[in-house]
Amino acid sequence: MNDRIEFRSMTNVNGEIRPTAEARVPVMDRGFLYGDSIYEVFRTYRGIPLFHDEHWARFENSAALSHLRIGLAKDEMTEQIRRTVQASGAPAAQQDVYVRYIVTRGEGPIDLHPAEDLETTFVVIVNELPYLKPEFFTHGLKVAVARTLRNPGASLNPNIKGGNYLNNVLGIIEARRHGADDSLMLNEAGLVTEASNSNVFFVIDGELVTPSQVAANLRGLTKAAVHEVCRAHGLPSHEREIPIDAVLGATEFFFTSSIREVTPVAELRIGEGVERSFPAGGGPVTRRVARLYADYVEDYLATHEDLSLF
Ligand SMILES: Cc1ncc(COP(=O)(O)O)c(C=O)c1O
Repeated sequence: MNDRIEFRSMTNVNGEIRPTAEARVPVMDRGFLYGDSIYEVFRTYRGIPLFHDEHWARFENSAALSHLRIGLAKDEMTEQIRRTVQASGAPAAQQDVYVRYIVTRGEGPIDLHPAEDLETTFVVIVNELPYLKPEFFTHGLKVAVARTLRNPGASLNPNIKGGNYLNNVLGIIEARRHGADDSLMLNEAGLVTEASNSNVFFVIDGELVTPSQVAANLRGLTKAAVHEVCRAHGLPSHEREIPIDAVLGATEFFFTSSIREVTPVAELRIGEGVERSFPAGGGPVTRRVARLYADYVEDYLATHEDLSLF
């Protein structure tokens, strides 16, 4: 008899948990109709949700910026996440997971203006961690600058982590057509903003830099952690405007995100015939930041065991 516990992707819709392939939201849900929703993504490490409080704080900020009432308190959402993780078999299988929690403005008539009495829908998706090719770390990502510009912040605040990702989808489609793994997106002034779903750092003139909020980008939690750990170890990192021309002179380039952590970029296609390459597996600064970040995660885990979802 095989009594090995298998992980199974599960999804919770308004408290009802099913295998993800069978989970449904109504077609009249505004999340489906308009991308009228907000979300967060985190991963667990040995069952502990990394930056749980920080994700919730950003979720509340996304809700406030989009005039959306979450409809669940933090403890209630945490409990729903715990139930869904438990149902997936991840704790018994001792398998870390990817968690996406979403709140939509709810089901209602086809009318852009949301009625006052809508009841929000919540969804928690518990998946396997996405497979990241080992070459992403040993060699590095291939990235292409997209011609599609990032939405201006005055049109859609990039700090609304919302369900409307068409801008980023167009960016990554373009990048893949150029044989790249991901896109680097610029704004109308030619400033670097971010990648399709990661923040970006460069070493330019010996300094570690990342785009400031002047160029629309999400305040990534991994980026914030990188700033903090770098500061603590005498490796200052700066937020500033980064014109794409300055990237031509960069010596290192890496991505940060909750899922990718710190991932080196090895190749950048800027335009027709204009390419830059960076050290395979990351240059000295990238490697140091990756180590510092890994230590930071370990410290977090050591002090947040009480959050464990397993
Ligand atoms: C557009 C965008 N930028 C940056 C990030 C990285 O943010 P974090 O480090 O909080 O995962 C994400 C990831 O969710 C994203 O979707």
